[in-house]
Amino acid sequence: MKFSISAVKKPLQAKTDALVVFVAEGRGASGLADADALDDLLAQLAVDGDFKAKPGSTLLLHRPAAVAARRLLLVGLAAKPDLRDWKKALQAAAAALKPLPVAQAHLLAMHGLDTLAEWVPTAFSEVFYRYDTTRTVDAKDQPALESVQICAVGSEVALGHARAALERADALAVGVRLTRELANLPPNYCTPTYLAQTAQKMAKHHDLRCKVLGRPEMEKLGMGAFLAVAQGSVQPPRFIVLEYQGAGKKDAPHVLVGKGVTFDTGGISLKPGPEMDEMKFDMAGAASVLGAFEAIARIKPKLNVIGLIAATENMPDGGAVKPGDVVTSMSGQTIEILNTDAEGRLILCDALTYATRYKPASVVDIATLTGACVIALGKVNSGLFTTDDALAQSLLDAGRASLDPCWRMPLEEDYAEALKSNFADVANIGGRPAGAVTAACFLWRFAKDYRWAHLDIAGTSWNSGANKGATGRPVPLLVRYLLAQAQ
Ligand code: BES
Ligand code: MN
Ligand code: ZN
Repeated sequence: MKFSISAVKKPLQAKTDALVVFVAEGRGASGLADADALDDLLAQLAVDGDFKAKPGSTLLLHRPAAVAARRLLLVGLAAKPDLRDWKKALQAAAAALKPLPVAQAHLLAMHGLDTLAEWVPTAFSEVFYRYDTTRTVDAKDQPALESVQICAVGSEVALGHARAALERADALAVGVRLTRELANLPPNYCTPTYLAQTAQKMAKHHDLRCKVLGRPEMEKLGMGAFLAVAQGSVQPPRFIVLEYQGAGKKDAPHVLVGKGVTFDTGGISLKPGPEMDEMKFDMAGAASVLGAFEAIARIKPKLNVIGLIAATENMPDGGAVKPGDVVTSMSGQTIEILNTDAEGRLILCDALTYATRYKPASVVDIATLTGACVIALGKVNSGLFTTDDALAQSLLDAGRASLDPCWRMPLEEDYAEALKSNFADVANIGGRPAGAVTAACFLWRFAKDYRWAHLDIAGTSWNSGANKGATGRPVPLLVRYLLAQAQ
């Protein structure tokens, strides 16, 4: 889908398949040079009661006399819309256009041009995305919409500003779509090898550096915790390194670390059967690192970013790691694996140790780490864990501004008591109380050399039930966070 912004003097005369007009509660179409006919129409509709300008409401009119377009789509908006109201209205507009044979739509920006520029690609891409890769039946009846043009009456300067915002938003939407697609792919398609190939293709296309380590290289580095998880699978593990350089070589990079468990059976500590298919989404952290890189590679901000992805399956097998096994991590710390289903922290701890070599400005890991986080925060907020107040604030701000929020959870030594082991330096589980916090405490032991935060996205990265599918979160949060570091 192509997005653009154009200056128009008489938008109601635009010859287009569909003209979309946002109508704020209690206000007409005033502000336009040629709005009289539209105002009359809105007044009539209000009298007849067919359209109330409420957030999310829509009304489609075919060839009304007031406009030159074939269709007029009225979209309700709150009197003083905030970000969420705007996004809701845009989603409603996109949903109304989706089933129609409309190839070209014009969106009238009477107010809030910058907001529209930033949110049109996000909302339209989100509503129009459909997973088709492994389906043959409905794959052919694709929606018709090809181009969305925002019509503005502002100055050239204001338009230029909005165009830059639109371009960034478009890049973000492409990143989010990649993340959703990767996470939605079935686990027999999206293997560690496939994730590595995706990273290599992206690197080639955008001129990034990419390195992929296999078992032998990981053995050499001493990644005993990561390899312990991988040893039960016939799929070879992959450790993926992506490097984006937008600033000087000496500029300390920001590092993103993604959990890439392409299927989590629990291993020998086998998970129960119901909903186990959803454990294909256990690589959503890795997918969000790739999605953020896709967006950053398109936006090209002046900063350096490193992506680290630990990719493996977690399978039960004759050779699989067992409860009670003690392994040595890359950091040298020994770990007693009391539950093989707490595998995310085992692969991430070695990735966090690997991150030290970059002397990073910050490290953020992203992981579908605990069911306990879903219980604590549901699907609204991702869990944020860090002892660094400034880093916490940056991530909270980025989440709020991108409507991809996170909520700060505690990270304190007292919780780490639960990870004591009689047979190793640390155990990989801490019992049921505060399960999301003790998981974060485990990671913390391996992230002492730099500014670090952990995002638990177990509740936010996919939906269950009838709308089962990946959300693309927290790519908007990550990209906004990174762009803020470039300023
Ligand atoms: N990938 C899961 C976490 C998860 C479970 C995310 C359900 C979303 C929904 C993770 O590897 C896991 O199994 N964690 C265990 C940890 C426990 C054994 C300490 C969990 O949350 O049950
Ligand atoms: Mn698990
Ligand atoms: Zn897992």
